[in-house]
Amino acid sequence: MFDDVIMKRRSYRTFDPRPVEKDVEDRLLTMTLRAPSGGNMQVWSMIRVTDPAKKEVLSRTCDNQAFIAKAPLVYLFLVDCHKWLEYFRFSDSEAKTGKPMRKPGIGDFHLGMQDAMAAAQTCVLAAEALGLRSCYIGDIIENYETVRDTFHLPTYAVPACLLVLGYPKEEIRAPLLPRPENDDFYFTDDYPELTKERLGAMYRNQEEFSRERKTLPLDNTGTYADGYYNRKYTSDFMKEMNRSTKIFLAPWFDDGQ
Ligand SMILES: Cc1cc2nc3c(=O)[nH]c(=O)nc-3n(C[C@H](O)[C@H](O)[C@H](O)COP(=O)(O)O)c2cc1C
Repeated sequence: MFDDVIMKRRSYRTFDPRPVEKDVEDRLLTMTLRAPSGGNMQVWSMIRVTDPAKKEVLSRTCDNQAFIAKAPLVYLFLVDCHKWLEYFRFSDSEAKTGKPMRKPGIGDFHLGMQDAMAAAQTCVLAAEALGLRSCYIGDIIENYETVRDTFHLPTYAVPACLLVLGYPKEEIRAPLLPRPENDDFYFTDDYPELTKERLGAMYRNQEEFSRERKTLPLDNTGTYADGYYNRKYTSDFMKEMNRSTKIFLAPWFDDGQ
């Protein structure tokens, strides 16, 4: 049942070391390419990271998350305008159409990002349906210079997200992480004025879940907001994400328009 694929999915980090069979990975990759894509142009690429040394690099650059190096499948999704620039060049599109070439801009980046994330999430759900498990690694936007040099990324092919995948070692027994209720979360027709009550209701389930597990800050008296503020928003890794992203986005802002 497709509902189960979505409703039972959870991020999984401790993989069975057994390799994913070639036919299973082929099905996964074929399903991933069925993702919708703006203009059906696939302004994204994906590098299958199989080299253990490169997996090690990623586990270090992504905030030292050791499980990355142990994952059977490591997929680096890129926003990729570079391949289109090359395709234009090989096709001589500028001369043939008489329209001057331009540099990619931030809109091109954003469209490519939408494409890349549609593909990555298709991959996540396809993996789940095939009995695999997965986890996104947001820290892939840190340490851009090292990631660029490791994979020889050209200027206009930049990290969108990283996925690690594999068969589960054992199913996790702990409950799924909660989500907000529909009525508390979704807006209708307009962006509303946000009140303390509205936001409290929106994150009530997550706050209660964390409170029961005594993982909220200030001796478990803090809010879910305090937890996020303390662990993520003010963290060194978030500082690094912002530094690194600014560097790889700079050329896309500098498009001469
Ligand atoms: C954009 C993004 C970045 C993430 N980065 C990481 C990460 O670096 N490390 C990690 O262990 N989990 C990461 N996750 C997984 C989240 O922690 C997880 O989705 C969230 O806690 C909800 O848990 P669930 O997926 O099991 O429902 C990331 C998820 C997303 C969507």
